[in-house]
Amino acid sequence: MPISDYRTALVTGASSGIGAAVVERLCREGLEVHALARRADMLEALSARTGSIPHGLDVSDLEPITRLADSIDFDILVNSAGVDRPGSILTAGPDDIDLLVDVNLRAILHLTRLIVPGMAARDRGHVVNISSIAGAYNFGGNSTYHATKAAVHMLSRQLRVDLYGKLVRVTEICPGRVATDIFAHVHGDSTETHERFIEGFLLPEASDIAAAIAFAIAAPVAVNVGLIEIMPTLQVPGGLRTMRPDDA
Ligand SMILES: NC(=O)c1ccc[n+]([C@@H]2O[C@H](COP(=O)([O-])OP(=O)(O)OC[C@H]3O[C@@H](n4cnc5c(N)ncnc54)[C@H](OP(=O)(O)O)[C@@H]3O)[C@@H](O)[C@H]2O)c1
Repeated sequence: MPISDYRTALVTGASSGIGAAVVERLCREGLEVHALARRADMLEALSARTGSIPHGLDVSDLEPITRLADSIDFDILVNSAGVDRPGSILTAGPDDIDLLVDVNLRAILHLTRLIVPGMAARDRGHVVNISSIAGAYNFGGNSTYHATKAAVHMLSRQLRVDLYGKLVRVTEICPGRVATDIFAHVHGDSTETHERFIEGFLLPEASDIAAAIAFAIAAPVAVNVGLIEIMPTLQVPGGLRTMRPDDA
């Protein structure tokens, strides 16, 4: 169905990266797009560029999120807000774990609970969850991040079952490395971070992820694009390591 058959969208994590690119794309398609993130100044600039409606909120702050969800019938929900912290679970602090669970998982569960029943009742809607290849593969990273993203994957699958019989579609977008500020947000905004994750690599841009989302939403209503994994061509997951005790 043409994207324009939908009227309203809520995009979380809209102040930068993939979320901001999705807002730009959906505004170009003529939707009323509500953009949610904490950095109100970035949302104001996005609004001036695109006409989106800013909501300077913390996605883990349940009361204002509930008020927003109750005030508008959203046709599209894009869960893009996400955070990570450096280091593995072996060195994680309690706040790191709580933050990742709150933003990457708990907020999506609550937004789903608050918004999707209305979609089901109206028999129209599309939920897009941004997970990560960290939810599908193991690599050197933060175990809490991997765990929350794996949960987003399973939630996306389960939501299809819960919505069985309704014309509400669910799409999981599973990106590998994308050229956004996420690395600066996780590791600090420095030349070293830029050199380590971005500089010289051939990477998908946030607008490429937004294009994939637009493809899924614009598919005929008979078509549910369930999962799109998007990695840089020059990135592959996998690998196997085996060591002798003496090598440790
Ligand atoms: N870039 C990649 O390589 C990559 C790969 C795989 C998956 N992903 C996933 O893609 C999604 C988008 O990431 P990105 O690459 O676009 O990174 P980004 O530029 O860091 O965007 C993250 C967004 O989440 C928002 N956010 C963080 N905490 C929030 C909170 N408590 N309440 C509301 N909003 C919050 C941030 O806005 P504020 O700080 O203004 O609140 C920002 O808009 C994330 O879920 C990420 O895990 C990214």
